[in-house]
This record gives sequence, structure tokens and C-alpha cells, in this order.
Amino acid sequence: METAAGTADSIARIDAELSRVAAGIDPRLYGGGPRPFEGLGKASRSRFALLLSDALGGERAAAERVAVCAELAHTASLLHDDCVDLSALRRGRPTLNERLGMNASILMGDLLVSLALEEAWKISPAACRSLLESVGKMVKGALLEERARRRRTGREEFFEMIALKTGELFRWTAVETCGRSSRPDLIEACGRIGSLAGSAFQLADDVLDFESDPSFSGKDSLKDISEGKVTLPVILALEDPALSGEVSALLDSLASAPPGDLEPALRLAALLRERGFTAAAREKASSMIKEAFPLIDALPVRAAAPGLKNFLLTLVHRNA
Ligand code: FPP
Ligand code: MG
Repeated sequence: METAAGTADSIARIDAELSRVAAGIDPRLYGGGPRPFEGLGKASRSRFALLLSDALGGERAAAERVAVCAELAHTASLLHDDCVDLSALRRGRPTLNERLGMNASILMGDLLVSLALEEAWKISPAACRSLLESVGKMVKGALLEERARRRRTGREEFFEMIALKTGELFRWTAVETCGRSSRPDLIEACGRIGSLAGSAFQLADDVLDFESDPSFSGKDSLKDISEGKVTLPVILALEDPALSGEVSALLDSLASAPPGDLEPALRLAALLRERGFTAAAREKASSMIKEAFPLIDALPVRAAAPGLKNFLLTLVHRNA
């Protein structure tokens, strides 16, 4: 089984591979300044691939190749997401849409999708095809979210949306990591672990929008409610008969607030934190991770299970 130092080495190799791909992009396409993407961020999908591979008794080199594809597709989705969300800050730096404009950022996202598929093709035509399908599902999730803007979405619709937009790439990562191990019979279980991990990750991300400080998280806060996105803490508050009227009124005043007026967003965020709805959403994320534990315990390398479980718990208890 790999050590923490072994994981750091794997991450360094994945990072180097991503730099190689970035270096292959013609500088004329991004004005010759800083590269359109650099570095790995939290490398959550990569770490997940590596630790899952350990629990399957797989080869690290194979998991690293899957991780490179996942990180490229993830970065592509963030370039598009930052355009959709009009975000100015990502990983502590100005977003590409901020630096080069919306059009260049959308097109660079498209280019990264093609690069992700090219890397997946090098693994196998089947891995490429399944990534293509997963990208389609991610887009479907993002479109569902877009169509839900400023609407009081219910739980079911919300969980479907996060499973597609975020759960799907974790699921693909898990399925492909499993497919490259000597236990392809565990693909279904691994896919389920991936879906749960991805949806739980998104729940924690949504909570951070209400709780974190941009200097710490490296991205803007209070974006979701300001942009009319209803996430789990808001859904839970709307389901509470004692609070739904107040929350609904705050959502209405948010919708009609002039741009830049953060007052209703701050009031809603304070209410959600003080009444325990952000904590309840984090608890739901934790329970989804724990739902994966029996599946992880059934993977062949029992000694690697605690490392994978602890990592998944850090995904939902992170503060950045
Ligand atoms: C972050 O959401 C965004 C995603 C998890 C993926 C969004 C998917 C697309 C935009 C579809 C396009 C996909 C590809 C592969 C081109 P967020 O806004 O909740 O998170 P944030 O707070 O980090 O911005
Ligand atoms: Mg966003």
C-alpha cells in the first residue's frame, strides 16, 4: 500500500502531466500571458482516484492517468461554470473570464474538453467514450441548475442536479479507476462510491458559499443565493414551517435587490447559519459519505480503507 509520501509523488506526477498538456496549448490562443490553467487546486478527484486504486489493489500509474483526464474535464467545467456564474475569483486568482473575457474562457473550456478526451483515448477508446457521456451529464446538470435559477427547487430536483453536475465526474473517475485495476467486477460498487462522494462534495461546497471567507477559499462567497441558486441549506429552511415565510420573503428581496446590494444575502446567510441549516446540510454530506463506507469495506485491500474513508470525510469537513 502507498504511503503519504507516495501520494505526494503521484500528485506531483499528475501536476507535471497537466503542465505538459497546458504547455502544448499555443500561447497565441490566450494572449501569451499566464497559462489558461495552472496547478491542481485541491486535487480532490486525483486523490480520490489514487486512494480508491489503493483500496482496489490497483497500480498507481493507471490511477494517475485517470486522474489527469478527470482534472482536465474538471478544469474545463470550471472555465464554463465561472462564465455562467460571472465569477471573478478562482483558486485565489482572477478567473479566465475576468482576464480574457467570456468568449475566450468558454472556448478555452471547449479546448480543454477535447484535451481531456484525447488523454482518455490514450487510456482506451472505451474510457474516452464514457468520459464523453459523463461530460454530457455534467452539462445536463449545469443546464438543470440554470433552468432552476430563482425558482424554489425541491430536494429531489436538487439532488438530481448535483449528482449530474458534480457526482458524475467522481463516478467516472471511480469507474475508470476500477476498470484499470484487477477487480473490474467491482465497477458498480465503485461507481456508487464515486456518485456519493461527488454529491457530498458539492453539498459541502454549497455550505462553504455561506460560511467561508474568500481570502481562505480563493473564490467569491454568497455567490449562490446572490445568483438565485437554491442550495440545500435554503431548501431545508424552506421546508421548516416556522421559517419558510421569512426565508421566502428574504429570497424575494434578494431577487429584487439592486446589483451589489449584499444586505438580503447577508441576512439570509446569517439566518441559515444561526438556525443550523448549514450544519444540517453538512450533516447530510457526512451521511452520504458514511453510506459509502460498507462499500469501501468490501474492497479487496482492507488496510487501505481507513485512508480512503478519512479522505472522503475531509471532503465534507473542509473549510476551503
Ligand atoms: C462548480 O459548481 C461547477 C461544476 C461542478 C460543473 C459545472 C458543469 C458545467 C458548467 C458543464 C460544462 C462541463 C464541461 C465538462 C465543459 P459551483 O458553481 O457550485 O461551484 P463553485 O462554487 O466552485 O463555482
Ligand atoms: Mg460557480
